[in-house]
Amino acid sequence: MAGDITFTMIKPGAVKNEHIGEILAMINQAGFHIVSLKMMRLSKDSAAKFYAVHKDKPFYESLIDFMSSGPIVAAILQKENAVEDYRKLIGATDPAKAEEGTIRKRFAESIQRNAVHGSDSDETAQWEAAFFFPEIERFYKEP
Ligand code: CMP
Repeated sequence: MAGDITFTMIKPGAVKNEHIGEILAMINQAGFHIVSLKMMRLSKDSAAKFYAVHKDKPFYESLIDFMSSGPIVAAILQKENAVEDYRKLIGATDPAKAEEGTIRKRFAESIQRNAVHGSDSDETAQWEAAFFFPEIERFYKEP
């Protein structure tokens, strides 16, 4: 299964703006199977651990505040070439640079409030998926 999954979060801004349904529809329409899905609010501590790789960045503290400011939707997505294909679907981190038709172009408010997170490698996808979902909460599509 490794290599076929990615991890995503619909961030607090997009949840607050009622875009959960439209974003999940775009994900399904792009051919991703939803393996796991839940809505929850991250504690500051959990958000800090999830984004620890960015701890030296100037935006880290404000990112943690934002990511713990309201509910998020977390999901594991399955598709051949999942990490790369999902990054194409969401578009560039900075919505000003995101292509037309991407999730961030449609729903991001700023580089921080950029609607969704997507894993940046297969290794990260495995770690991020495990951060949120145990095996009993995963429902893979069988070949
Ligand atoms: P994400 O894909 O979740 O990974 C790290 C997050 O940090 C990113 O999306 C943005 O929300 C945020 N981020 C990245 N670069 C900046 C920046 N220059 N200023 C503010 N936030 C940023």
